[in-house]
Amino acid sequence: MTNQKTDELNERSKAESARPQIILSGMQPTGQLHLGNLEGALSNWVALQNDYEMYCCIVDWHSLTADFDKSEGMADRILEMAIDYLAAGLDPDKCAIFVQSHVKQHAELHLMFSMIVPVPWLERMPTYKDKRDNLGLDSYGFLGYPVLQAADILLYRAHVVPVGKDQERHIIFARDLAGRFNHLYGVDLFPLPEAKFTNFPEIPGTDNRKMSKSYGNDIRIADSADETAAKLKKMYTDPEKIRRNDPGRPHLCPVFKLHQLYSPAGLVETVDRTCRTGELGCVDCKGQLTENLNKRLAPIRDKRAEWSKRPDDVRDMLTAGAAKARTRAEETMVLARKAMHLAS
Ligand code: TRP
Ligand code: SF4
Repeated sequence: MTNQKTDELNERSKAESARPQIILSGMQPTGQLHLGNLEGALSNWVALQNDYEMYCCIVDWHSLTADFDKSEGMADRILEMAIDYLAAGLDPDKCAIFVQSHVKQHAELHLMFSMIVPVPWLERMPTYKDKRDNLGLDSYGFLGYPVLQAADILLYRAHVVPVGKDQERHIIFARDLAGRFNHLYGVDLFPLPEAKFTNFPEIPGTDNRKMSKSYGNDIRIADSADETAAKLKKMYTDPEKIRRNDPGRPHLCPVFKLHQLYSPAGLVETVDRTCRTGELGCVDCKGQLTENLNKRLAPIRDKRAEWSKRPDDVRDMLTAGAAKARTRAEETMVLARKAMHLAS
């Protein structure tokens, strides 16, 4: 190889690696977010926005796959969630925060993908089988849920998708579909996206099941410090620690799990020891947790209160986010239409 050629190649790979990688993630508009959403997803996004070109999508069309008949209130749920995003530290100058249905290219790419997706790929998705059998979902759109999610990701030619472990199959599906499109049309259009899982442990809810809005066991970013205290007061503890001085089993107690996540190491060690000996009562233990949890949430809640007073600014932020997303999306669509030989 000539020196000039090597130089050229080096220059090109330098340019490639200098370009920030692209991240897309999505969340259904469930309304106010809870600690599980904050620690499991949002905090991760906040950390990533500095190093990547990032797109945060509020997937309202996806929410119709299960709730097509309960969609009133959607606009409010989107607004509340966007406020939580901003409060948690997502910065609209660093990432695009937008609503899926504002960027119509998601629908177009979904339609184009629907032509090349083998139906058996969809029928064998575990999420599909599970929800079809348990929730009785049987719509065409629901079967196509993973195709729409793949369109969300590939529309931005994203490299990385930060999600929970439960989304692994959907990301593999998007990879497979990207590969199939590239192969069928002989292009190198879609990078194969990688999932990036959070390593934050699952947050227990107040009833010791996984924290979830639908279980009604959640602690929300939007809750006040007093509401948080009241919820923790009622929280499940070791059922065998009945009287204050009974020895307890912290490893079976969700209050202890939250201490491990939110309290300083020294206190965690003391709680662990004094719960076992029976020196520590649950009321005091929960009081200490309340203090530490409220300390973590206070700055986020302050920001939330500020944004809540300016809903029009939040909506403007979403409009601007959609415009930014649309620019990237349309670039991809020009290439995708060309690959499929559609008229331009
Ligand atoms: N299916 C995801 C969930 O339920 C939401 C989602 C839709 C998503 N599109 C996405 C996540 C694209 C990551 C990337 O959590
Ligand atoms: Fe749980 Fe704390 Fe009670 Fe022990 S003292 S059982 S850790 S709430």
